Amino acid sequence: MNKEGNTSKKENGNLDFQDSHKKAFPFGIYVHWPFCLSKCPYCDFFSRVKKDINQDELISKYLDDLTYYAQTIGNRNVSSVFFGGGTPSLISPQNIEKIIEHIAKLFTLSDNAEISLEANPNTQKPHLFSDLKKSGINRLSLGVQSLDDNELKFLGRTHSANQALQALEEICSLFDNTSADLIYALPDQNADLWQQNLERLLKFPLKHLSLYQLTIEENTAFAKKKISPLADDEAASFYSLANQIASAKGYQQYEVSNYAQKGFACRHNLLYWQGDDYLGIGQGAHGRLSLSSGIYAQSFPRLLEKLTPQERAEELVIMGLRLTSGINKKHFYDCCQIKFDDFINQKHLAELKQQNLLQEDSQNLKATQQGFLVLNYLIEKLCS
Ligand SMILES: C[S@@+](CC[C@H](N)C(=O)[O-])C[C@H]1O[C@@H](n2cnc3c(N)ncnc32)[C@H](O)[C@@H]1O
Ligand code: SF4
Repeated sequence: MNKEGNTSKKENGNLDFQDSHKKAFPFGIYVHWPFCLSKCPYCDFFSRVKKDINQDELISKYLDDLTYYAQTIGNRNVSSVFFGGGTPSLISPQNIEKIIEHIAKLFTLSDNAEISLEANPNTQKPHLFSDLKKSGINRLSLGVQSLDDNELKFLGRTHSANQALQALEEICSLFDNTSADLIYALPDQNADLWQQNLERLLKFPLKHLSLYQLTIEENTAFAKKKISPLADDEAASFYSLANQIASAKGYQQYEVSNYAQKGFACRHNLLYWQGDDYLGIGQGAHGRLSLSSGIYAQSFPRLLEKLTPQERAEELVIMGLRLTSGINKKHFYDCCQIKFDDFINQKHLAELKQQNLLQEDSQNLKATQQGFLVLNYLIEKLCS
């Protein structure tokens, strides 16, 4: 038992959402497909290479889980659905349609809901993207990673730059809302190569970009091979270059690694960063649910674990500082019922502002561009 008399425990039951969350805030559903055609050596996402999957059987379990959660938490206005992975472009468009229809039957799916899918160019086949569009997907995000064949080979990708270019061409002609991922700061990359990659990508009228600095994650093939990341100062200069190039093309940075044309920030991912509610379906998925009995971390298989307000508050700082708009103090209170000014370490806050790493006004606290380079340090100081 903690100070507030809450216990952190696993529990299920018939639970209603907190009224405020039910009415006022967006709600999303994340559908995770945990399979890939091959395992990329840098990736520590929950994903497996498995050929003999009975997809229809698994999808019917997803539908059952959706029904279970609809009964448990009641109806919500769903403003976004995100098919992520793994490689969800391996799910057949018929099954994608089944899931979307089931969500619409169980919950109130907004007319203008953002329905995204992450596609890998190595799953491309004729009509895949147009079939996905017919199945209800209205935002397509492509895992390009690089437009240089040598880099793609280093990253263990099983598609070529030409395949990625062809897929980009197709998604931009089919979808209004498109995004692509690139990975930069590879060990042998120089600034010219990075610039060329980004400029090749920006020839396409994409609405959104995710530009990730390569991280060497524990237990990945890269970590086992002792691949070293690019030196911090060089990686920081690639990051500044990315910001300049993206901004010159009209993309506004709204999160550490994410950039969007006006009005095209990813609404689903904003739920995570702003601390709103979402449900996660599939083996590697998790959710956050505000219920009348408290705030819950939801995970597979059908688990609800109560979070203390402090645990939720810390998550809100970790996620919120990633946004260029920072943490909205009022929303922070709505999400964890703790006043922001009471939660954070005021002495450290004053020091970090003095060092020009944080900026604060009466409504928000946000990291400066300099602060973005040391986010983990800021979080640690604010939460200690
Ligand atoms: C969940 S992955 C799924 C995307 C899709 N399966 C694909 O590979 O195209 C989402 C994104 O995370 C990024 N990513 C994964 N591991 C990374 C790492 N170690 N360093 C940097 N970016 C990484 C990649 O850009 C990838 O597109
Ligand atoms: S990067 Fe994408 S394709 Fe590669 S292993 Fe991870 S989830 Fe699968």
